[in-house]
Amino acid sequence: MTDNLLLEYIQRCTKAEKETEKLAACLQTLTTDCLDSFEDDDISDKEFLNLLNENKKLKYRIAILKKSIENQDVKTGTMVNNDDFGSHMCNILGHLESIFTKAVLAAYPDVVDPVIQIQLSKHADYQCNAAMALAKSLKKNPREVGQMILQNVASNPLITKLDISGPGFINIFLSQDFIKQQVTNVVLNGVTPPPMVPKRVVVDFSSPNIAKEMHVGHLRSTIIGDCICRLLEFLGHDVLRLNHLGDWGTQFGMLIAHLQDCYPDFATNPPPIADLQTFYKESKKRFDEDEAFKKRAYGAVVKLQSHDPVHIKGWEEICEISKKEFEKVYERLGIRIVNRGESFYQSRMEALVKELNSAGYLEEDDGRKVMFAEGADIPLIIVKSDGGFTYDTSDLTCIKHRIEEEKGDWLIYVTDAGQSQHFKSFFACAKRAKIYDPAKTRIDHVTFGVVLGEDRKKFKTRSGDTVRLAQLLDEGLQRSEEKLKEKDRHTALTPEDFSKARDAVAYGCVKYADLCHDRSRDYVFSFDRMLDFRGNTAAYLLYALTRIRSIARTAGVNREDIVAEAKKPIDLDHEKEWKLARTILKFPDVVVRITEDLYLHPLCEYLYEISSVFTEFYDNCYCVEKDETGKIVKINMGRLMLCEATATVMEKCFAILGIKTVERM
Ligand code: ARG
Repeated sequence: MTDNLLLEYIQRCTKAEKETEKLAACLQTLTTDCLDSFEDDDISDKEFLNLLNENKKLKYRIAILKKSIENQDVKTGTMVNNDDFGSHMCNILGHLESIFTKAVLAAYPDVVDPVIQIQLSKHADYQCNAAMALAKSLKKNPREVGQMILQNVASNPLITKLDISGPGFINIFLSQDFIKQQVTNVVLNGVTPPPMVPKRVVVDFSSPNIAKEMHVGHLRSTIIGDCICRLLEFLGHDVLRLNHLGDWGTQFGMLIAHLQDCYPDFATNPPPIADLQTFYKESKKRFDEDEAFKKRAYGAVVKLQSHDPVHIKGWEEICEISKKEFEKVYERLGIRIVNRGESFYQSRMEALVKELNSAGYLEEDDGRKVMFAEGADIPLIIVKSDGGFTYDTSDLTCIKHRIEEEKGDWLIYVTDAGQSQHFKSFFACAKRAKIYDPAKTRIDHVTFGVVLGEDRKKFKTRSGDTVRLAQLLDEGLQRSEEKLKEKDRHTALTPEDFSKARDAVAYGCVKYADLCHDRSRDYVFSFDRMLDFRGNTAAYLLYALTRIRSIARTAGVNREDIVAEAKKPIDLDHEKEWKLARTILKFPDVVVRITEDLYLHPLCEYLYEISSVFTEFYDNCYCVEKDETGKIVKINMGRLMLCEATATVMEKCFAILGIKTVERM
């Protein structure tokens, strides 16, 4: 965001604050007046009541103003009140909502916190239905209320015409010039975010456990978390991507004991363990079956926790092997993430437990130390009876670190819904311990459902084992290759383009299939479905994009030609051109809306919508006209601009979804 925008935002806040102060002063005087008048025998009851009423209204106004200041900052951070977009794309819907909120407040200053929803309309571009509900509460005629609101809409660059229809719907017609200027802007400057107040966001995602397998649940967390990061980064936020690895705990006892047996010289010679999961299974088997081994494993935990150098070395080696394995998956999927496991918080956990103890937050429970809080369904176990710390201790410490040291304004955790209770509890305890203040920090626990197999049972291999991610991705590659070969792409493309397309389709499909569903639901993992070249799949959409990109290319028109064309105003006379332009410009509203609840499927729905609206446009509007011999006789450059803008927006959607696009496929 530019300094100018920030400056203006601050100025606006200051202005609103001043207004609030003025109103508060006014309220004070009025209250005093009221009290004075009360003693004054001359004052009639009616006057007194009037004053009280006035007082009440002012209180409302103050509350509204205060709220609007808070909302601006806390919620999404979008600045919708600025009419000077520069090269920013405008979030039209958000902007219209703000215009109409102001109009309602200007028309009816007593209305408290009006909720204004703007919808798409058949009769106009958009429609505002605020008059109906308002008329009810004000006991007035809705058409009159609509008229009042309409008259109070301040002049703005978005709207060209407003009228009232039916019982009081306000039809909104967007300005052609504004839409044309915004489309041209996309062609010239690419897809730019709407103005935002940047925040420091910490996103905890992926977060597998060392030595255990990274399973499909972690795959979902990785895909969803990465997409959230990409979206917030696009909007200009400062995002810290954290991998909260389970790298500390009792499982290391048996792993190190097993390591000592298999690789006695491990301290000097890093062990060549190729398959850590098998190694884990072996040690677990011994742990469960062999009493003596179990005893040694417990001993090893104690040694590790007291930082014995040899045990620390073994722990480091195991972590290293595991991280390298995870790294391979991240590399294939194009995921950037910073490893910061639970062990990082060791010394901070000790300090926090002391603090909590002396502040009287901890209670004894059967040798354990637990913490209760309002809103926590179950207490946190802060110290176990053997003196060790738990998942609860590390998360409470970690939230403190993220707020106080990382200076996070917004914390996001992405895990399966099964962990909801744990998260709810430590958020509540953090609040109680005054670590977290919801008015200052936004926290989201972004949950998701389980991955099911095509039999709708928990996703497993045929033999009943958990599916390994690397194998799953390999299968995706192979299936994608088969699919492309079925379509003869291996003969049409160079080997290099073919392998690019194969990878993009394989990884793109796995990600898209996950992201296009409502994340809170369980989802059925099916290669057949995700690799279908028809319907709402990455395979189809990636292909659709290459088709759009090829229109200008086959006409021999390059980007420079289109940019030169953008100097002239674009034509949007055809109904389908106008529809496509408006769909292109919906993008900012879609992404801003997502920041409210972090459900990502609307972005996929939008991507599918834009490709469908493009098809409608392409079927109805010639971009390139050819004669019977196939010779190009006319090129409609304005329409090629629309193709360019469509492709640019689609590419941005893919980029946010973490899906690589290809030129040819
Ligand atoms: N390692 C955990 C698991 O595999 C996920 C950690 C999520 N992050 C957190 N701060 N608790 O389930």
